[in-house]
Amino acid sequence: MSLASNIQELYSQKLLELLTQIGQIANKQGLKAYVVGGFVRDLLLEKANFDIDIMVEGDALPFATAVGQELNAECKLVERFHTAHIYYQNLVIDFSSARKEYYPRPGALPEVSFSTMQDDLFRRDFTINAMALSISPDKAFELIDLFNGEQDLNSGIIKILHARSFLDDPTRLYRALRFADRFNFIIEPKTEMQFEKALKLSYPSSLSTKRIAAEIDKCFQEKRPLALLTKYQNTGLLTYYHKSFVEYARPDFKFSLVPATSTRLRSKFPEISESAVFWSLLLSNIPLEEAKPLLNNSGLSHAVSSQVLNAIGEWQNLLSKLIIANNKIDIYNSMKNSCPESLALLYLKNKNKDVENKLTLYINELAVIKPSITGKDLIEIGIEPGPQIREIFDKIIEKKLEGSELNRKDELDLARTISNI
Ligand code: CTP
Repeated sequence: MSLASNIQELYSQKLLELLTQIGQIANKQGLKAYVVGGFVRDLLLEKANFDIDIMVEGDALPFATAVGQELNAECKLVERFHTAHIYYQNLVIDFSSARKEYYPRPGALPEVSFSTMQDDLFRRDFTINAMALSISPDKAFELIDLFNGEQDLNSGIIKILHARSFLDDPTRLYRALRFADRFNFIIEPKTEMQFEKALKLSYPSSLSTKRIAAEIDKCFQEKRPLALLTKYQNTGLLTYYHKSFVEYARPDFKFSLVPATSTRLRSKFPEISESAVFWSLLLSNIPLEEAKPLLNNSGLSHAVSSQVLNAIGEWQNLLSKLIIANNKIDIYNSMKNSCPESLALLYLKNKNKDVENKLTLYINELAVIKPSITGKDLIEIGIEPGPQIREIFDKIIEKKLEGSELNRKDELDLARTISNI
């Protein structure tokens, strides 16, 4: 049965044509091509998923290059993993060769060799993620379901494909809980037994901090991060990230407030990163001297790492300053150089009502107070570039904080008075 009409209805005729075209290019090269993974699972669940993974039986690199040329789209080859990405309109389409995996030791990244579609599906994590959609012209949009993934999807079951699955790749323990939580599925009894065995034999201890952190990061992108984090904690899976997250300890309920807090701050600080706020909250529960090296080993982007570092390094200091601040100028000066993630973390960690009021005042009112004039305006009226410009701006802000309503002219007059011109 063809799933072409499902794609057309859920996405568009355009996407259907694009996949058809990719299948035809493969055919011209004598290759068979498939869409695999989450896209196929979500298509059957009638949920749109724009992560399109194409697998070919053969070499994906010349194939992706040809697709890039025909679509006139940028094609990036990742020789190391033998994969490619095509950037086409607002889509990123990933290409890989059908492969077999061999795990030299548990938890390590696998050694891979080219193989068949069947082998490629068999190396995958769960039956619901191991289906393929053929896009070759002779079998266009036919579902290939070798392990009854569709049935498990309909019954709400997470099931591994073979008994070694969790040993080969213990990140699948985290993934099993994540998919079960996302779709409200249950873990099938035999898989559950292997899951328990994996925990008992500490399989995740073979994983690097970076790989565990990648799973935690995905958890933060789910709809109910706290619920999932609680499962990671209850099963002991979080202990492998850091020993302080002991089994059955209750995770900080404030994780459930991170999205709303970030959204609230975003209206004043558009650059705030929700992911950095999540990581800051997680790492703020660990002593700073241990949190720093852990963060460095977590493989987060440079931007997120430095936001987290700022936030976990400064929130307590900001808290002390806010406790003693007793006017708008003090509040402004204590907070003005802090990054939005620090404000968010402070907001989440703080338990003091007075501090909360001061923080809210800063975020809603004070943070946006700025001079209307610019450095260029000051230079134009004859002020030398240099530290005096900062001094003038600080004075203007101070006056505004005191309640003066200054317009551009008032600000320029004040600048003249300060600099005696
Ligand atoms: N996969 C796997 N084992 C892993 C990770 C991935 O077998 N440890 C396979 C699965 O077939 C999965 C596909 O690679 O469907 C793509 O992985 P990923 O993008 O991580 O997950 P998705 O299934 O697309 O899920 P999500 O919706 O969370 O992106």
